[in-house]
Order: sequence, then C-alpha cells, then structure tokens
Amino acid sequence: MADWPNLHVSQHPAVRHKLAILRDEHTEPKKFREVVRELSWLLGYEALADARTQPLQIQTPIEPMAAEELADRIGLIPILRAGLGMVDAMLELMPTAEVWHLGLFRDERTLQPVEYYNKLPDHSHVDLCLILDPMLATGGSASAAIEVLKQWGAVKPVRIKLLNLIAAPEGVREVISNHPDVDIHCAALDRQLNEKGYIMPGLGDAGDRQFGTGKNS
Ligand code: PRP
Ligand code: URA
Repeated sequence: MADWPNLHVSQHPAVRHKLAILRDEHTEPKKFREVVRELSWLLGYEALADARTQPLQIQTPIEPMAAEELADRIGLIPILRAGLGMVDAMLELMPTAEVWHLGLFRDERTLQPVEYYNKLPDHSHVDLCLILDPMLATGGSASAAIEVLKQWGAVKPVRIKLLNLIAAPEGVREVISNHPDVDIHCAALDRQLNEKGYIMPGLGDAGDRQFGTGKNS
C-alpha cells in the first residue's frame, strides 16, 4: 500500500479464494475454523519471509551439505478469543515458537479494549513477536496488545508484527499512528466500519463464528 508502507495485504489467489468461504454467512463454525487455520498458515508464510536463518551442516543420503535452519526466536501472541484459531497453523510453520496468551475483549458500548488475561512470561528472549487476531477493526485491541508487549520488554531490536485476516482502514490508521514500527500483514483490507464498529463487508464476529456463540444475541 503506497500510503501505508507497513501494511502488507496478501495478493495470493488462494487467500482470496479462502476469504470468500470465510466471509460467507452460510459457512458453519467447523468449516470456518478450518479456513481460519488455512488462511493463517498462508499469511504466516508471507509474514515470515524475512525471518533469519543460520547455517546448518547436514548429511543427505548422497553427500554432506551446508543447509539452513531458522534462527529467529519467535513469540506468538494470540488475542483471546478469536486469535486462538490462528495458533496451530503458526506452530506448524514455527514449531519452536512460544505461545503467550493475551485476553482482550472489546467493550460493546465504548469499543475500548479490556484486558482480562495475560500469560506473558516473566523473562524470555525472542527476536520477533507475532500478534494473532483475525480482525483489526478500530485498532483499539491491537494497539493495546502492542502496548502490553512493549511495556513487557518487546522493544528494539525485538520486532513486532500483527497478523490479521481482515483489517479496516480505521484500524490500520490507528495502529500505524500509535506504533509506526509495527508491520501489519492481512488477507484483506476492507471498506470501513459500521456504526457498531464492525468491519464492512467483513465476516461478522470472528469469535462467535469460530466458537458457535452469539446466535441468540
Ligand atoms: C474482536 C477481535 C479483536 C477485536 C477487534 O474481539 O477478535 O480482538 O474484536 O476490534 P478492535 O480493533 O475494534 O479493537 P472481541 O472483542 O469481539 O472478543 P472475542 O474474540 O472474545 O470475541
Ligand atoms: N470484531 C469482530 O469479530 N468483527 C468485526 O467486524 C469487528 C470486530
């Protein structure tokens, strides 16, 4: 994106295909969770394209060779609840990553984030923190999560990246103005928020759609 160099919107056809399934109101929670996982894998693959490697000497059945292994130590920070569905795919990509759960919900009236759970370790040495949350709406939750990480100690040279499935321009603006050092990777940049703070066209409530809640509200 020309205006937002920190924003990376996937252009991959497979991502666009899977997004249509995710957005469709007829997609049931089981399929929804499956596609959240698949999209997370694809997005994570793109977001980790600049991860560092180190030399590794191995022996193939034919001869010795100089190979590479991942060198970056990674912390995955899923934002509860909806970010939970992105964890397994990221662990498949980066099996040695640590997972630090952070519970934030958005107050329905004020749209402000409320922190209710924090499982960041007392000490850890990572090079990269990846925040996982399917939705970037007002940007309040993402900004709060980044603030928590920075207060905890994720400051330069530690890098922070945000992985979202769908982002709204309002949220991108909010995160980039508060945290210009953070890269945002998403599958789609949608039009705008509605009066209730939902992304249009979006996919509805990512937590409810994964976990089958909210049908009676
Ligand atoms: C959703 C979503 C983000 C947040 C985005 O979570 O998963 O965390 O809203 O909105 P924002 O950018 O305006 O802060 P929600 O608060 O609905 O909690 P849930 O995951 O427990 O359903
Ligand atoms: N949270 C969601 O789950 N969906 C939205 O559209 C906005 C915030």
